[in-house]
Amino acid sequence: MNAAVEYGVGRAGIAAVRALDHDVVGQAHHPRGAAGRVNAWEMAHRPSNRQRNQWVVSLLGVQPCDQVLEIGFGPGVAVAELVRSGAGHVYGIDHSDVMLRAASRRNAAAIRAGRVTLTSASVDQIPPGFEGPFDAIFAVNSLGFWPAPAQRLAELRERLAPGGSVAIVSQPRCPGATADTSRSAARRLEDLLREAGFTQLRTETLSLSPPAVCVMAAGLRPPA
Ligand SMILES: C[S@@+](CC[C@H](N)C(=O)[O-])C[C@H]1O[C@@H](n2cnc3c(N)ncnc32)[C@H](O)[C@@H]1O
Repeated sequence: MNAAVEYGVGRAGIAAVRALDHDVVGQAHHPRGAAGRVNAWEMAHRPSNRQRNQWVVSLLGVQPCDQVLEIGFGPGVAVAELVRSGAGHVYGIDHSDVMLRAASRRNAAAIRAGRVTLTSASVDQIPPGFEGPFDAIFAVNSLGFWPAPAQRLAELRERLAPGGSVAIVSQPRCPGATADTSRSAARRLEDLLREAGFTQLRTETLSLSPPAVCVMAAGLRPPA
């Protein structure tokens, strides 16, 4: 079965499970149980999800010694891409046990090889061992679910290595989302990053439907 056919068959199963679980937003926020496993499958196979995760990894331009942290890794697509790109060590936290299992399966070989460390935790309670410093910290369609996101971003800034950067991706998934929705999401991310003390902001757009936006920023203020 090719990828497109497999995705179509999978989508039919997803519709059936979602008919039993109407809490679609809650499932995206904190995937749990059977519906959470279906969500993990969809996130790992939906072409636009895969593209936006591959894209952010290409924007990060990681080097072989780089230590990278992902918040809200979901089924671990970006983690796998980072390993393929040669990142030194990839750390990830996600508060969903279902996603931790899915991402751990997808990256089992790299975890065994000591190149990936994943755990179940919320961004507001980052556990010991994940202090950094990190050369890059990123999140894809996750920040919208964080409590007090500007405060979380300020805490993450403290975990960046000198010269390190952050990348926050948003692809609006609300019904009827358009390129305007993506532009508004980018402006909101830019405001949050400035409020959290980041500088040198740069916004990139990936042409999907609707577009994905990525706001990248540096952790350190330039010398006065
Ligand atoms: C829409 S999914 C995106 C998953 C993945 N980044 C992707 O693009 O395929 C959002 C993810 O963020 C995680 N998440 C939401 N709030 C979180 C929090 N406070 N701390 C850690 N992870 C969180 C969810 O469990 C979920 O796996």
